[in-house]
Amino acid sequence: MKLWKGRFAKASTTSADEFNASIGYDQRLYKEDITGSIAHAKMLGRQGIITRDEADLIIRTLQEILADIEAGKVEFTVESEDIHMNIESILTERIGQAGKKLHTARSRNDQIALDIRLYLRKEIGSIDGKLQALLNTLVNLAEENQETIMPGYTHLQRAQPVTLAYHLLAYYQMFARDRERFADCLVRINRLPLGSGALAGTTYNTDREFLAEELEFDSVLPNGMDAVADRDFALEFLSCCSVTMMHLSRFCEELILWSSVEFSFIEIDDAYSTGSSIMPQKKNPDMAELIRGKSGRVYGDLMALLTICKGLPLAYNKDLQEDKEPVFDAADTLNASLGIFTEMIQTMKIKDENMAEAAKYGYMNATDAADYLVSKGIPFRDCHEIIGRMVLYAITNGKALDELSMEEFREFSPAFEDDIYDHINVRSCIEAKKSEGSTSFSSVARQIADIRGKDRK
Ligand code: ARG
Repeated sequence: MKLWKGRFAKASTTSADEFNASIGYDQRLYKEDITGSIAHAKMLGRQGIITRDEADLIIRTLQEILADIEAGKVEFTVESEDIHMNIESILTERIGQAGKKLHTARSRNDQIALDIRLYLRKEIGSIDGKLQALLNTLVNLAEENQETIMPGYTHLQRAQPVTLAYHLLAYYQMFARDRERFADCLVRINRLPLGSGALAGTTYNTDREFLAEELEFDSVLPNGMDAVADRDFALEFLSCCSVTMMHLSRFCEELILWSSVEFSFIEIDDAYSTGSSIMPQKKNPDMAELIRGKSGRVYGDLMALLTICKGLPLAYNKDLQEDKEPVFDAADTLNASLGIFTEMIQTMKIKDENMAEAAKYGYMNATDAADYLVSKGIPFRDCHEIIGRMVLYAITNGKALDELSMEEFREFSPAFEDDIYDHINVRSCIEAKKSEGSTSFSSVARQIADIRGKDRK
């Protein structure tokens, strides 16, 4: 039976009911919906808007309904449209008149705005836990790989040698900022819309401060029309999800490259790889590829909600019912991606000899050779030119820079002395970096110590 049927001369068609209904997906908000209704009933009872006995009966029955839903004993119907009216109908079936009073001083518009905020609060808690696990894994891996030397790239061309620890700590910083972004987003999610009514407020002597306290919100949204009409907090959440997926996707792209025979820097564990139905030799990095692919899907969720909201006149419009699927999808996708990604990097094999071998070639010590000449008083631009010509010469002769003889060095500049060889071996190139936040062994050790120090606080 429809809760709003009074004004209608005619029943809606089954096709219209089906098209209109959100119960198929918003039923996962049952807990948030009941939590909100219990707080609302408590407030109505305290304020004398309904009697205390009625409030107690409503609350007790809502708790029973919650237990029944969790035990799989409740069937929702499309006729009752959404989770709000389904639960209210069940309540009224069970306790009659008192059940019909629950919706006093409330609209589904403030109710759904509350439910999504409660849901996002919970999801952010879960995402934060997974991000923390990922950060722990990254710092542990960095600690173990402080001596693992590899090429650092720009334009995917070998650029300067770095350590794997340094590379991993770059991701640590990105994911640490993702955590901050979610925490910041939570600040704006944690403001109470309930009590705004449909759009204009209500005529009852309600107590929104009490509701905020009861539901552990930091404050009450100061304008009811804003509270029911805007979904900017969900957009912020989706953009936080998108940025985190982008970070995961970049990392996955590297893992995919690194696990190719061409790189051979890592091997993804069998447990996180798949085979080919035709090519018996294949071992494919499907998890990493899927995460990379799913980043596109989460961006889609963000674009969907942005587009849903952009032309809506104030206040509530049914278009807003379309907010839920993108939000659920992004939260589920990010949660799953973070979980599998952390397991995958915990179990992958790092082929440190191959990384070190790759770091020997590609003239990645050219900048260090130029810096050597700078230390002899030659202006950097001239050094750049000299070393450039040397690299060309070395390439033509099939040698690395440190394989050139002293005579060859001196042909390019008389400033070169015997200590050039010590200067441009891979380890010295790394250790010579002095700037704060560099790849030098000591700087990376300090970065790890800082992270550990902060974690302990
Ligand atoms: N199922 C609706 C939604 O998700 C709840 C709010 C409906 N409000 C309304 N006035 N029709 O947005």
